[in-house]
Amino acid sequence: MSDDSRILDDEALDTLFREARTYSGWQDRPVSGVLIQALYDLMKWGPTSANCSPMRLIFVESQGAKERLKPHLMEGNVEQTMTAPSTAIIANDKKFYEHMPRLFPHTHAKAWFEGKQGMIDDTAMRNGSLQGAYLMIAARALGLDCGPMSGFNKKGVATEFFPDEDIEINFLCNIGYGDPANLHERGPRFEFDEICKIL
Ligand SMILES: Cc1cc2nc3c(=O)[nH]c(=O)nc-3n(C[C@H](O)[C@H](O)[C@H](O)COP(=O)(O)O)c2cc1C
Repeated sequence: MSDDSRILDDEALDTLFREARTYSGWQDRPVSGVLIQALYDLMKWGPTSANCSPMRLIFVESQGAKERLKPHLMEGNVEQTMTAPSTAIIANDKKFYEHMPRLFPHTHAKAWFEGKQGMIDDTAMRNGSLQGAYLMIAARALGLDCGPMSGFNKKGVATEFFPDEDIEINFLCNIGYGDPANLHERGPRFEFDEICKIL
């Protein structure tokens, strides 16, 4: 297989990036549990440092669970979240390094982190954010749309959904089939020459 054969076609690149939008309105079309599991089984392969995999996920879907989330949302995020088929709480486990003997067995990586809170925090946020991005791109690859949100009370969501764990919430992401009706014009992106250098 030549390397060129691994380049995705234009349609796939549109689906993942160029035509994909951030949605705040949703079609009345459910997302099955099987698809949510397929989403995880795809995104989990994205790389993290020393395979540390700090992200933890809760998919909030039932009316009861949505009501628990609602009081912690910023006003502008309430309706889009209450109507989304699934809302992923994307969180970082601050004890991620406990699992390193299993996830990165060829060296004693757990010792790199024990007692080093700054390194734990940096590693969790860097890699948990990468995993959140992998989740969104994997969702698009499976024909889903996303609506990521940082407008919510982190401590409130952590206490409500992860009461006994050393968890920091990173962001929320609505998942479903987007309704393009209320999309505004797409914002521009920087051009290559504005923000990139090849040295
Ligand atoms: C981490 C993150 C947090 C965001 N927080 C919010 C939010 O709280 N509420 C909201 O309506 N949109 C939120 N957005 C949506 C962004 O404004 C949107 O993704 C961006 O403008 C790009 O839009 P496009 O994908 O349609 O080009 C967030 C996006 C990201 C990635």
